[in-house]
Amino acid sequence: MSNAVVLQGVGRLGSAILEGWLLTGAVDPKDLIILTPSEKPVAEKARALGARINPPLETLAEAKAFVIGVKPAKWVEAAQDILPHLSKDAVIVSVMAGVPEATISAGFDGRKVVRIMPTTGVAQGKGVASLWSSDAHALAQGMALFEPIAETAVLDSEDLMHAATAVSGCGPAYFFAFTRALAEAGVAEGLPEDVAVRLARATLRSAAAGVVGDESLDALIDRVASPGGVTRAGLEVLNENGALDRPVQGAVKAAVDKSTELSG
Ligand SMILES: NC(=O)c1ccc[n+]([C@@H]2O[C@H](COP(=O)([O-])OP(=O)(O)OC[C@H]3O[C@@H](n4cnc5c(N)ncnc54)[C@H](OP(=O)(O)O)[C@@H]3O)[C@@H](O)[C@H]2O)c1
Repeated sequence: MSNAVVLQGVGRLGSAILEGWLLTGAVDPKDLIILTPSEKPVAEKARALGARINPPLETLAEAKAFVIGVKPAKWVEAAQDILPHLSKDAVIVSVMAGVPEATISAGFDGRKVVRIMPTTGVAQGKGVASLWSSDAHALAQGMALFEPIAETAVLDSEDLMHAATAVSGCGPAYFFAFTRALAEAGVAEGLPEDVAVRLARATLRSAAAGVVGDESLDALIDRVASPGGVTRAGLEVLNENGALDRPVQGAVKAAVDKSTELSG
């Protein structure tokens, strides 16, 4: 077995992963084997750097890792032709939402599996990825592939994948919804709509840029909100009697429930 890594599926997430690997050098393009039914710009970029696209299936025997980047409804069918050619020691890396480790392992004749839930920010090397595996070697393989392109969190149990998805996978939409509400509140206070939206969007970008290192969230808040000041007055209303905490907890709970239902 060599250092070869197979990526099966170059859709929205597969493209982002590939972009991130090329950007950071996490995987040497010469070690990349890409399986894709249709031509994809990022796969062609990888090919120009030495990656192999849809090579003869016997080549897959070299792979130390096989990354499943197809839809959950497609993986069983997509594995059929591959399976006879994969090394017994190849680690199966699944980024599929909701398909349990045991199910994937059974589908790949008992091979070790690591489950990873990344965000598409991996394309810029700034993703978030939660990892789960019951096997230490598979987990290490997943970390080697995703640590260079994402902030990683190793989960203590597979069940926590639902909560991790609800926080980091759904979270961006919640921040955007808050940003929209902030813009609407600005309009209510007299700002023209285009100005309010531009200010709110830029504030989201600017706030994110300020989240560096491991400064606590309370310290980040204190940096903006001085005691007795304007921001503090707003914050006191924002979470009066848990006014903010309650809907956020409700939203995360609803997402966990939906994720659990879809994987059942
Ligand atoms: N999108 C996200 O933000 C996100 C986040 C976390 C997890 N995920 C997971 O990532 C997986 C992919 O999601 P996606 O949003 O990237 O879906 P997508 O854009 O539909 O991509 C799926 C890709 O799979 C390819 N494909 C289908 N059959 C194949 C086969 N036999 N061999 C090789 N490739 C094949 C398709 O190729 P063609 O384009 O040629 O049809 C398509 O590009 C899903 O399991 C999803 O749960 C996605």
